Amino acid sequence: MSDEEQNTAAVGPSGPAASARPAAADAAAEPEKGVSRRDLIGLAIGASATSLVVGAGAGLVGGAAYGQDQARRIMDAAAPASGIHQPGITTPVQEHLHFAAYDMMARTTRDDLAELLSDWTYAANRMMQGLDVSATGALGGSPDAPPDDTGEAVGLPASNLTITFGFGPSLFDARFGLEGQRPAGLERLPAFLNDDLDPLRSDGDLCIQACADDPQVAVHAIRNLSRIAFGRATIRWSQLGFGRTSKTTASQTTPRNLFGFKDGTANILADDTAALEENVWVSASEGPAWLAGGSYLVARRIAMLIETWDRTRLAEQDRVVGRDKGAGAPLSGGDEFTAPDFSAVGPTGKPAIDPRSHVSLAHPDNNGGIRILRRGYNFVDGTTDLGRLNAGLFFLSFQKSPDRFVTLQKALSTDAMGEYIRHVGSGLWAVPPAPAAGASIGAGLLGA
Ligand code: HEM
Repeated sequence: MSDEEQNTAAVGPSGPAASARPAAADAAAEPEKGVSRRDLIGLAIGASATSLVVGAGAGLVGGAAYGQDQARRIMDAAAPASGIHQPGITTPVQEHLHFAAYDMMARTTRDDLAELLSDWTYAANRMMQGLDVSATGALGGSPDAPPDDTGEAVGLPASNLTITFGFGPSLFDARFGLEGQRPAGLERLPAFLNDDLDPLRSDGDLCIQACADDPQVAVHAIRNLSRIAFGRATIRWSQLGFGRTSKTTASQTTPRNLFGFKDGTANILADDTAALEENVWVSASEGPAWLAGGSYLVARRIAMLIETWDRTRLAEQDRVVGRDKGAGAPLSGGDEFTAPDFSAVGPTGKPAIDPRSHVSLAHPDNNGGIRILRRGYNFVDGTTDLGRLNAGLFFLSFQKSPDRFVTLQKALSTDAMGEYIRHVGSGLWAVPPAPAAGASIGAGLLGA
């Protein structure tokens, strides 16, 4: 495919003209922005495609039927908006993940970055409503051009899709005139004991977390946002995840991770606004101003040595975690939601919860009260050269400052679980607040 053909896939705020899109969706999806070079390309193609569809009635590519498809998708569950915060943080954790880290391409400018974020915002708003990336979408455009939307989500509900954007430390350099706006804490995470990081699975100028209850909807989101980025940003690495390993609402059951343990029991929940303010959201006084209401996202690809774990005695597995594998109760007693008692003594006279257990080392009582919002997913990426499962936990956490994660991860350097896991990928991004109505993600940063 030529560059010119690829460019026709770029959609923008004033991109392909509206046709089948419901009016309510229009208002929510359409940021008011200036018309960019790429928008003009899209607009020209979109406008001609629209007139073709209108002129030919349903004759061209089943335009009327396609419109119904779009309407049906919007009626299905769409993730609730989260107000000033981006969706995908406190939103009830969905079942599937597609996460991607991007690098801006060489010789791109601040205008390119602003335009990309504007185009991404437009398309993300549409996809989160269960719509194609543009009004002409997958099937409503000209047969002589590649469709704006890749089409694999046609007919699927919104599936609670959330799309969350982050800005990495490397974005804040002279290329985009952002050197002076990097928050002090937004640096590459330090090296931790036992890190075995692959640079090809780490870092990135930008990141996008797409979560949905249908894996195809999450993949469709990343695929189309990557396509829209053509000529401006490229994927550095990406990760698929299945099976949430946490919960963010009391009504969600606690899932199990690939070690078979309940995970997410002590997570911060969406209705605990005090804990969120204290631990997750960057406040106006903590700054910088463009990040107020935002957060910091840490991603760690953590390989689990599944075969070793699976040969480990149940009592040892319990000791390593500090909780009982069945009920998820702390080894000091009670049920899943009983607070762990680190002073309790077990039958052998030793602490009931091993001080080197994961829960003991990660617990706020032993870390100056620090809590984080965890939102990770299981992954299985086939098998290794040795025939072992290439599996683990794609750990994602949101916290109001990176040093909170650093403190916890340092505390976990003596974690009994360390024998069974290896951190192989890493990244940190600042997650700006949700854009104001009609604005683009990161508008506060770029002054756009
Ligand atoms: C493969 C790696 C990991 C596994 C399998 C794992 C598993 C678990 C499990 C089973 C629990 C107990 C249930 C719960 O409260 O959710 C837990 C708790 C927790 N984990 Fe992890 N975890 C991993 C990595 C991490 C990392 C990298 C961090 C942060 C640096 C972390 C931080 C926490 C925290 C803060 C808690 C709650 C402690 C409490 O308040 O009781 N975990 N984890």
